Amino acid sequence: MTEERDRDARHRARQEFEKRTVFTEIVNLFSLVGFLYGALDEELPFREAVRKQFEKPVCFYRTKLESNLLACLGGIAFLLYLFLLGTGILLLLYYRPTTAEAYSSVVEITNRVPYGWLIRGIHFWAANLMIVTVLLHMMRVFFTAAYRPPRDVTWVNGMMLLLFTFAFGFSGYLLPWNQISYWATTVGTDSMSAIPVVGDTLKYLVRGGDVVGQLALTRTFAFHVVILPALMLLFMVLHFLMIRRQGIADPL
Ligand code: HEM
Repeated sequence: MTEERDRDARHRARQEFEKRTVFTEIVNLFSLVGFLYGALDEELPFREAVRKQFEKPVCFYRTKLESNLLACLGGIAFLLYLFLLGTGILLLLYYRPTTAEAYSSVVEITNRVPYGWLIRGIHFWAANLMIVTVLLHMMRVFFTAAYRPPRDVTWVNGMMLLLFTFAFGFSGYLLPWNQISYWATTVGTDSMSAIPVVGDTLKYLVRGGDVVGQLALTRTFAFHVVILPALMLLFMVLHFLMIRRQGIADPL
């Protein structure tokens, strides 16, 4: 009798264990938890297994870089991106993307809108600082040879982020629609024709015609406020997921 009860209890425990194993296997396979934090501990109840993985710190293989400001450059670039997003949304409340009104709306923001000068100033400085920070971050990654496998995908992903950062600067430059932005965009798009094979098409695509006009403003505006922020966010998420999974590279 007791033997039978023991066997039943063992059987039930075994079934319970297998159910949990299949469940955690499914979670490992189909969720980011398994991908980011490593396979879940099958011996623990599911909630505890997830908590254990979440509490794992980003792995710094040596403490040398951990306390180094250079390891913060990527994070500072991300912080600046958030500043740009916030101030950009506020600027959107007053900016008008037409050739007739763009310039006057920017003058209005600077001189009449309460704290408009401050929001515009923060947007301007954060944009410039972000370009510098991303370049410094890239140099830090290069000189610590952190681009080597298995972080080659993170590096290529980073190159896309660099490209988007430049594209942000270029597209934002035209928006005030003043003399310097008009002629800088004219020269910038003109030099696109120097790119072999696709250069002229690219120039035409950006300008939307032969000269920089309303369509060019509409397109750079769309790029600056919708397409680039979305693309950048997507590539940043991928960047961070790779870093969370692989940890920070062992410095040379
Ligand atoms: C918007 C631009 C970018 C942001 C917000 C960003 C953010 C970050 C953050 C937060 C880290 C982890 C901490 C650190 O090492 O600083 C990191 C690491 C890394 N980033 Fe970036 N990054 C950007 C651009 C780039 C660029 C342009 C490259 C190279 C072309 C790059 C390649 C890498 C690599 C390879 C790592 C791993 C470094 C290691 O393991 O030591 N990133 N990034």
